Amino acid sequence: MKKLYLVYPKKKGSIAPEIYGHFSEHIGGVFYDGLWVGKDSKIPNVRGFRKDIIEKFKAINPPVLRWPGGCFAETYDWRDGVGEDRPTRINWWNYHDGRYEPNEVGTHEFVDFCEMVGAKPYFAANITATTPMHIRNWMDYCLSPKGSTSLALEREKNGHPEPFDIPFWGVGNENWGGGGHMRPEFYADECRRYATLMHNVSRDVELYACGSDGMKYDWTHGTVPNLDDKTTGFAMHYYCGRAGDPLTFTNEEWNAMMSQANRMEEIILRNWSIICAHGRAHNLKLIVDEWGCWHPDGSGPSKGYNLFEQQSTMRDAVVSALTLNIFNNHCDKVRMANVAQLCNNLHALFLAGGENCIVTPTYHVYDMYKGHQGAEAIETVVTNNEELTSSVSVSASVKDGKLLVTLGNLSCTEDAELSLEGVGVALGKKARMTLLTHEDMHAHNTFDAPETVSPTTADIDLAKPVILPKASVAAIEVEVE
Ligand code: AHR
Repeated sequence: MKKLYLVYPKKKGSIAPEIYGHFSEHIGGVFYDGLWVGKDSKIPNVRGFRKDIIEKFKAINPPVLRWPGGCFAETYDWRDGVGEDRPTRINWWNYHDGRYEPNEVGTHEFVDFCEMVGAKPYFAANITATTPMHIRNWMDYCLSPKGSTSLALEREKNGHPEPFDIPFWGVGNENWGGGGHMRPEFYADECRRYATLMHNVSRDVELYACGSDGMKYDWTHGTVPNLDDKTTGFAMHYYCGRAGDPLTFTNEEWNAMMSQANRMEEIILRNWSIICAHGRAHNLKLIVDEWGCWHPDGSGPSKGYNLFEQQSTMRDAVVSALTLNIFNNHCDKVRMANVAQLCNNLHALFLAGGENCIVTPTYHVYDMYKGHQGAEAIETVVTNNEELTSSVSVSASVKDGKLLVTLGNLSCTEDAELSLEGVGVALGKKARMTLLTHEDMHAHNTFDAPETVSPTTADIDLAKPVILPKASVAAIEVEVE
């Protein structure tokens, strides 16, 4: 039997709610026929946004939603998305799917959606194809007090007298790639140029610099020493990629995907060590504003029409559990994380089209983990016959006298039997466990069978071992005495 030690006196810091953040780009079916159906649609909607998604998304307490891209952000002109006459433009992704951008969703609509679900907006500014003045004007439009500037008056004319609450701004996106293929030193200079004017509009917002692409640390070495302290986040991306088909993968491919996902920890540690080496640990935290699996196209309900749309199985749920546990365990370094993407795309929480809308297993993981938001993380150790073991991923946190322990069984062949041991704390005997499991690790939800993978909750007795089925995710809530 494995032992899970919950080391109560060893607090690791507070888990920023924003670690449970999301990302929505104007790409494929994320917005059009996904989140957005239009105000005149027969599909139930609130001011154009799909009602079903608003209700279910709100239920998992999304703290932050990043927009409008991704790569899309690097050709986005905010002026196209405000006012009456909205132009149609070439979408960044047009060369992949031939689709154009109608700009029906712009600044006002997006912030409205965020307000409806209770998330704070995180805007990614285009620094590839604009001037710093252009982005300064967007901030002026969004943030200036009612009646103050001409752009604030224009915002009022467009229906929003009060300033928008947009506390997070990205200075570019993937500027090592689609965002201009810049060299790190050049990017750092550009970032300083933009951040100077952005900071000049508001000192109350957090500005995030473009971080590294997965394990490519040259970017970190080249940028970090050259960024100034106006940027307080280093926004890196890591997609753990693919291993076989999203729906028919083998056991070996399951294992490969777990190892790929587990690299997130090394990426955090390596980037963090460079930040520390440059004396920036106190004011430059890690942001992981795109992460998730990236399976081959075509497994989603639109059968390949929506670019990057993919189905999500129990494997994606366990990747989510593992990744969120890593973030919790490094909450002293990670300020925010945004899973890519919210709907009809990579590692999505929602799949929607026409009248249909379902949640994926990943959605349930976010629901099961939401109690970690704002809680104090504590140290955990899992042993097997007194040796450390990593086949069970775990994190734990405490809030209001309650301990939340979240687990992922990374093995697709072996159940795990766990005994929970409090160190420096007496665990209550009774606990409640929510379990996401299915006998088939390929199980997933479809429009025809939307609840194939759904969690169940039951009281458990901690005097007895906890059984964590193979390829499952669990959340255990315990009162501490
Ligand atoms: O999420 C899809 C794309 O992946 C984003 O637009 C880009 O930032 C990344 O390369």
